Amino acid sequence: MSGTSRRSPKETESKHLPIYRHRDKLVQAVKSSTFLVVTGETGSGKTTQLPQYLHEAGFCKDGRIGITQPRRVAAITVAQRVAQEMQCTLGKEVGYQVRFDDCTSQDTQVKYMTDGCLLREILADPGLSQYSVIILDEVHERSLNTDILMGLLKKIFSDPDKATKGRSFPLKVVVMSATLETEKLSAFLSDCPVFAIPGRAFPVTCTFGSAVGPKDIESTAYVKEVVKVALDVHTSEMAGDILVFLTGQSEIERACDLLFEKAECIDYRYDVHDRTVEGLLILPLYGSMPTDQQRQIFQPPPKGIRKCVVATNIAATSLTINGIKYIVDSGFVKQLNHNSRVGMDVLEVVPISKSEAQQRAGRAGRTSPGKCFRIFSKDFWETCMPEYTVPEIQRTSLTAVVLTLKCLGVHDVVRFPYLDRPEERFILEALKQLYQFDAIDRRGTVTDLGKLMVEFPLHPGLTRAVLRAASVGCEDLLLPVAAMLSVENIFIRPGHPEKQKQADQRHRALAAKTGSMNDFATLLSVFQLCKSSDRPSAWCKDNWIHWRALKSAFSVETQLREILLRLQQKRDFPAETFDGNKSELFRRCLCTGYFNNVARRSVGKVFCTMDGHGSMVHIHPSSSLFDQEAELNWVIFHDVLVTSRVYIRTVCPIRYEWVKDLLPKLHEVDVYELSSVAREEVTEEEMVKWEMKEAAKRPSEVSAADAM
Ligand code: CDP
Ligand code: MG
Repeated sequence: MSGTSRRSPKETESKHLPIYRHRDKLVQAVKSSTFLVVTGETGSGKTTQLPQYLHEAGFCKDGRIGITQPRRVAAITVAQRVAQEMQCTLGKEVGYQVRFDDCTSQDTQVKYMTDGCLLREILADPGLSQYSVIILDEVHERSLNTDILMGLLKKIFSDPDKATKGRSFPLKVVVMSATLETEKLSAFLSDCPVFAIPGRAFPVTCTFGSAVGPKDIESTAYVKEVVKVALDVHTSEMAGDILVFLTGQSEIERACDLLFEKAECIDYRYDVHDRTVEGLLILPLYGSMPTDQQRQIFQPPPKGIRKCVVATNIAATSLTINGIKYIVDSGFVKQLNHNSRVGMDVLEVVPISKSEAQQRAGRAGRTSPGKCFRIFSKDFWETCMPEYTVPEIQRTSLTAVVLTLKCLGVHDVVRFPYLDRPEERFILEALKQLYQFDAIDRRGTVTDLGKLMVEFPLHPGLTRAVLRAASVGCEDLLLPVAAMLSVENIFIRPGHPEKQKQADQRHRALAAKTGSMNDFATLLSVFQLCKSSDRPSAWCKDNWIHWRALKSAFSVETQLREILLRLQQKRDFPAETFDGNKSELFRRCLCTGYFNNVARRSVGKVFCTMDGHGSMVHIHPSSSLFDQEAELNWVIFHDVLVTSRVYIRTVCPIRYEWVKDLLPKLHEVDVYELSSVAREEVTEEEMVKWEMKEAAKRPSEVSAADAM
């Protein structure tokens, strides 16, 4: 923390927040019931203040206060802010934990964390014995993990007998939301009390544009348009900061570059309407940005300068930036959705919902009346934008959470208390995948392998590959790859065409060094070359690699290795022998985790996936295999990118023999047959009948490759 000598902003600012007047009543409300719903406009002080009130009221006497956030960045920046307000060092009394980054200590009393981290903690300690209060924050975002946590906390703590198991004092659960869905939340949590913090929102005038209409749903022209509108606001509107909503890092960087170029050309004597405004301070804000840069966002701009923050949806509710008076809304968001065309979760850019658009607009009216400039047309609003955002639990893969639930002893995953129930076919699909990975058996019970798998904060397929590698003693090949796939993109792609050519050449040279065109091997090689280099950061610069991403990959690899070591010591760890060269071994381990991402060459450069969807896919230009013609008949891939075509990325050539025995597994169980194991009530008789039917379908062989 840089600000230990600086005066705490707490006294000056936090007393002006709407929540402050309700402090005593709030503390009382938390004391008097197990569950409490707290609602209030974004920016009213819920996230930063309530934990401090509870801390001061003595709630940390018995345990910690844990606050979950759906987003990493929010967990980190809010913890920084609260540490500053409480005048302590981050990581001491106030800390945070996000995946692969734990900044807490024995002394931590107020802990901000992602919802995924709390879910992992419940796995290790279902009674949450370290905590006196759990605050589930940003519940209106309806993230998958937060929804699951709500169900779990309801299940564990609604029943007083269960609730006190393993605890010496009662746990308090607070659920915080920015929207008015509070009745539903209260009804879900045994009709618990609701505490509404009265907001003070000023009117925001919204105008629609004409640049994005219903036909532009797949175009990216909106980047140029938001830049144009932001500059118009800058030159023609009164003082006040601008917040621009776009969808992701590369777009935001492009918009910032354009803004910068154009703002340079403004002649402030003639072009700017409000003469108190002398310049524009352009700041990007997205998830994978370094945290010290993120902190800058919250600082007021120098006098006479207008701040323009270009952000992802993170600025819609998770983070409140003071001083915003103008919103420029692109109308789009990047969202993880299950894509039925390819049968996988895919990050896609989609129109936001109307309620989301209203939330974005509301950010302009926190302290005075504001204006929101929507670049999309009224027609687009009416025809392309849904009323509400569909909760994540109803649109993404449930494989990892179903495994977590099963490991927590929740066998009946269909009748688990969901705030909004996912479609049954999504639950069945998750069971099917877990069965394919051998994480559960035919009865839906977690296997020993499943118990190992749940320990890794990775996608189950990747975990499966790592575990297979460990069982044959080649984890040194797979752990770095898993780490590299868990951090943000490591390859720099500069915007300037000449530089882009240089970078591409460098990246191709790195791929060629591995001797085998295989993107996974390239990742491994980059990891190893950089790690063994004398000057790793210079090495990265020379090779157009993000040094920051690689540094994280080094740390992630160490953490994954620690998890693996712990498991190898604790349990009967599977072991098998394997003869064959290293490259083959490496790729066969990958096959164990990626056998549902296999594609076979169809015609020319078109491949066909083998998972039953039979999608036609192309190798992405970023792959070292993009131009390869010869002997490329079978490949596995890490993920897909859907544009007008479906591209597969991070690709590796394989031999059919390696997946031959694994592929039938994809079709072996029918999802509907798994529906009986999704529920607890399956009878012995039903089970026997089913097993006989299955046995008849599938002759005797058990594949050697899969006998881990
Ligand atoms: O949770 P809620 O939306 O109700 O409000 P909050 O996040 O607690 O924000 C309260 C105030 O703290 C706002 O004025 C934010 O701008 C400020 N804040 C900040 O200055 N820096 C942060 N890292 C987080 C919040
Ligand atoms: Mg908040």
